[in-house]
Amino acid sequence: MILETERLYLRELKEDDFDSLCEILQDEETMYAYEGAFSDSEAWEWLDRQISRYQKWNFGLWAVILKENDKLIGQCGLTMQPWKETEVLEIGYLLNRAYWHKGFATEAAEACKKYAFDILQAEEVCSIIRDTNIPSQNVALRNGMTRADTWTKHYRGVDMPHYRYVIRSAEK
Ligand SMILES: CC(C)(COP(=O)(O)OP(=O)(O)OC[C@H]1O[C@@H](n2cnc3c(N)ncnc32)[C@H](O)[C@@H]1OP(=O)(O)O)[C@@H](O)C(=O)NCCC(=O)NCCS
Repeated sequence: MILETERLYLRELKEDDFDSLCEILQDEETMYAYEGAFSDSEAWEWLDRQISRYQKWNFGLWAVILKENDKLIGQCGLTMQPWKETEVLEIGYLLNRAYWHKGFATEAAEACKKYAFDILQAEEVCSIIRDTNIPSQNVALRNGMTRADTWTKHYRGVDMPHYRYVIRSAEK
């Protein structure tokens, strides 16, 4: 286990999680900010990328597990992401749609913020969010972040304006 909150724990993803992960990555509505649902091969690529991140950085997007039934209900964690000329430490989150509107994303994101400051000793951490993704921006705001700047990313053949929400360790 990497992190524990009141209702959740976070652990590394593993290959056995593929089916639970596909409930998230292959759901059109969940994946609208990523230009639609992933194919099986895109989902495997995503899972393999997290496992490589654990090896390289010791962190990545982790599995979010509901304590009451041990179900994998989402992903939340820390990754290094390109931003303009540099790379930044980001908190990312995606939940199974059946578990939206219950505060789980904010609960997991707050724990990742604490991990970034207390364990990684980061000076700042951010969430990079598509301009159209209001629920995700609300999680960043609830996590104490404020909008810092804007950049257009090119992903899956589409130009996507993104906002970067930031909190610095001095503000936590
Ligand atoms: C982004 C995402 C995780 C946000 O999920 P969410 O359910 O809106 O956010 P939370 O889990 O923090 O839940 C907050 C909601 O739960 C409510 N809530 C209910 N019980 C709660 C509790 N015990 N504690 C806190 N909030 C609670 C809040 O009032 C809030 O309500 P609202 O949705 O009506 O505003 C979800 O929309 C998602 O997975 N989207 C697809 C993937 C994605 O776009 N990821 C981000 C890429 S940048």
